[in-house]
Amino acid sequence: MPEVQTPTEATAHMLAEKIRTHRARVGIVGLGYVGLPLAVEFANAGFTVTGIDISEGKVERVNAGDSYVGDVPSATLAPLVESGKLRATTDFAAVAELDTINICVPTPLRKTKDPDMSYIVSSCQEIAKRFHPGTLVILESTTYPGTTDEVVLPMLSKPGLEVGRDFFLCFSPERVDPGNPKYQTVNIPKVVGGCTPACSEMGRLFYAQALEHVVPVSSTQVAEMVKLLENTFRMINIGLVNEIAMMCGRMGINVWEVIDAAATKPFGFMPFYPGPGLGGHCIPIDPFYLSWKTKQAGIEARFIELAGYINGQMPHFAVEKVQDALNDRGKPVKGSRIHIMGVAYKKDIDDLRESPALDVMLLLRRRGAIVSYSDPHVPSLKLDDFRADAMPESRAGEADCVVIVTDHSAFDYPGLLERSCLIVDTRNALKGFSSPKIVRL
Ligand SMILES: NC(=O)c1ccc[n+]([C@@H]2O[C@H](COP(=O)([O-])OP(=O)(O)OC[C@H]3O[C@@H](n4cnc5c(N)ncnc54)[C@H](O)[C@@H]3O)[C@@H](O)[C@H]2O)c1
Repeated sequence: MPEVQTPTEATAHMLAEKIRTHRARVGIVGLGYVGLPLAVEFANAGFTVTGIDISEGKVERVNAGDSYVGDVPSATLAPLVESGKLRATTDFAAVAELDTINICVPTPLRKTKDPDMSYIVSSCQEIAKRFHPGTLVILESTTYPGTTDEVVLPMLSKPGLEVGRDFFLCFSPERVDPGNPKYQTVNIPKVVGGCTPACSEMGRLFYAQALEHVVPVSSTQVAEMVKLLENTFRMINIGLVNEIAMMCGRMGINVWEVIDAAATKPFGFMPFYPGPGLGGHCIPIDPFYLSWKTKQAGIEARFIELAGYINGQMPHFAVEKVQDALNDRGKPVKGSRIHIMGVAYKKDIDDLRESPALDVMLLLRRRGAIVSYSDPHVPSLKLDDFRADAMPESRAGEADCVVIVTDHSAFDYPGLLERSCLIVDTRNALKGFSSPKIVRL
């Protein structure tokens, strides 16, 4: 007698089979730094992928095979588009044709440091209207623990449709590290947790088709918390080392030498480095998702608040270094020409979001400095009423003081040292050079 399947098994079995045979039609909602690389990995693995984004400009560029994400070369994207494996659209009608949907939309903070869920909510509203039974939905946007079960699940729930039986819902934190040549979407282990064991298993199966290593966990809340632990760990350790840098500065000790020597300990120590402040879409923001949530449970996230405060002081600390260095040479900041090397929030990328360079420039301008910059990845920038085009780095030496804010690999550091009269180095980019022209953080 043929085996009779219950509806649960039949729906799960059909979706699992489509995933295993790479016939599942994959959808990625939000084609930014996270979504576009993910779309490319699944298309590379042989799936037919549809990207949905509200930005017409991005959709047009994807369909033209023209990448705007540093980690995705156009030479990789274009053949996938040409072969019909990857396409993009602004039209959520595409959801009706999809078997899997990954949500990779922004999760910023409001001015009050409360989570801004509006992007998740609006994309889920569109998905809820159109998805069919037998769909796997995975939220990847970083968010507070409970979002998938408390916000997304109620939006997708419909009479007669049961999660884990008729559709599948998971959370999987995105760990992409833009500009990292060693770890990219394909080889960063992927944590995934579902609303039910059947959801977790579907999520695991899905990622296992395109990514090298999948780490299933028991619930969506665990998966959500994993990301917040990772980023909070980083934020707090950076806060600690920033405070140590301020202490060392006061005591005349070279903090960089201290860290390098401490890092020779083969156990129990992990080096973090000070700098002009936190930047990007993750480390300065994600921990506040956690502190917002825990406040509701009556717990003050004191480590997070303290590290946030210290990290927020760093642009001021860097500017004071510049001011002291100029004063020592008999020059006031007011009227001095100050040239910033690197404005992206970290080395070798073009992302300006939350970049501490913007704060440093603003603070220097408020003190009356004439500010210019060089950055091979950022040709121009706008900052309040200040607009500037990047200057060739060969002209940095014309300034009264050069400030290395982002240590891009492309900069010619020996040349910079030779041409400049004073360099404040907030990243230890001039490690190994010794000169009275150099002032280190
Ligand atoms: N960038 C990173 O390094 C990184 C790393 C790990 C996690 N994350 C998290 O991943 C998520 C996405 O980040 P990102 O850096 O890719 O952001 P991004 O701004 O680069 O991309 C988000 C995309 O979503 C689109 N979008 C916005 N609202 C939409 C909607 N309603 N429907 C469809 N598309 C919509 C935007 O147009 C944009 O293209 C965030 O939660 C972020 O915290 C980012």
